[in-house]
Amino acid sequence: MNKIADYDTYDYDYSTYWNKREYEHKSEILVLEKLLKHNSGRWFLDIGGSFGRLTKTYSKRYTNPVIVDYSLKTLQKNYASLKKETPSIELIAANAYFLPFKNNTFDGSLMVRVLHHIEKPKECVREIYRVLGHNGIYIQEYANKLHIKAVIRAILTLDFSLFNKEPYQQPDKHHYEGTKEGSKVLFFNYHPRWIATLLTDIGYNIKKKYGCSFLRLNILKKLLSTKFLLFWENIFQYTLSWSNISPSIFIKSLVNKKTENTEEPNDFASILLCPRCKGNLDIQNNRAICNNCKNEYLKKENIWDFRI
Ligand SMILES: C[S@@+](CC[C@H](N)C(=O)[O-])C[C@H]1O[C@@H](n2cnc3c(N)ncnc32)[C@H](O)[C@@H]1O
Ligand SMILES: [Zn+2]
Repeated sequence: MNKIADYDTYDYDYSTYWNKREYEHKSEILVLEKLLKHNSGRWFLDIGGSFGRLTKTYSKRYTNPVIVDYSLKTLQKNYASLKKETPSIELIAANAYFLPFKNNTFDGSLMVRVLHHIEKPKECVREIYRVLGHNGIYIQEYANKLHIKAVIRAILTLDFSLFNKEPYQQPDKHHYEGTKEGSKVLFFNYHPRWIATLLTDIGYNIKKKYGCSFLRLNILKKLLSTKFLLFWENIFQYTLSWSNISPSIFIKSLVNKKTENTEEPNDFASILLCPRCKGNLDIQNNRAICNNCKNEYLKKENIWDFRI
């Protein structure tokens, strides 16, 4: 079983992480608006979507947004407010390695600030490919191993191991993103070429790339207004994204696969299946039983618990 960054065990409200990060948050919104500009459709999946920080970018373009997250507590806590904002949204607790959805369901998906917690990216991104339909879009954000500060540090310390393509596990110190300070958590940074190979090997066609948070430096954030930083951020997103110098990178790709003829699903229940064996579910009220492996899943305080 792959290791999981289980936020429910950290006793920490991830939304508080964003209290002092308006610049980073708005920089990510700027990128997503650029990447989603010409897209629309029905089902859209936000993987590791947590408290719904990014929902506004896709819920105005896709009629049926779905947030999947391993943290049942976070979804339960934010259910009412997210439903109020977007009545069609569905929240579901599941493991990104074992998604409880039928093949070829989604017209689009994104994963932001989650890949650094994923021990086996290939297994996870292949599972996302399974649930995306032909021509579906997939936006993958990742923490960039080759961001400019890391490259300068590598040159100054003559430590060139940074340049090998393998994912890099950050030391525990200072990397608690989304978790309680001091907790031990998976936190990988990725090489841009390693990510490109990962996506293309699975069958995604890479279409666009944007760097993000080019000005993520405490000194700049202290001295300059967020508005000023975002003005330059927007310019750098257009002009410097080829360079791989930013700490975070977004890749948009298109799914290319032959799909069997599937019926257009009408409601949420009709897109679900057993995350373990992919068998059909018999769903009654707050209980779903797999017709094949007989595993049982429960809806707990409005949220289906399909975690494995
Ligand atoms: C740093 S937060 C990012 C949340 C959100 N994407 C954002 O950018 O605001 C990481 C989220 O990924 C979720 N997560 C980590 N591993 C996961 C897995 N294997 N399956 C589903 N969710 C996972 C965590 O529960 C957490 O909510
Ligand atoms: Zn089953």
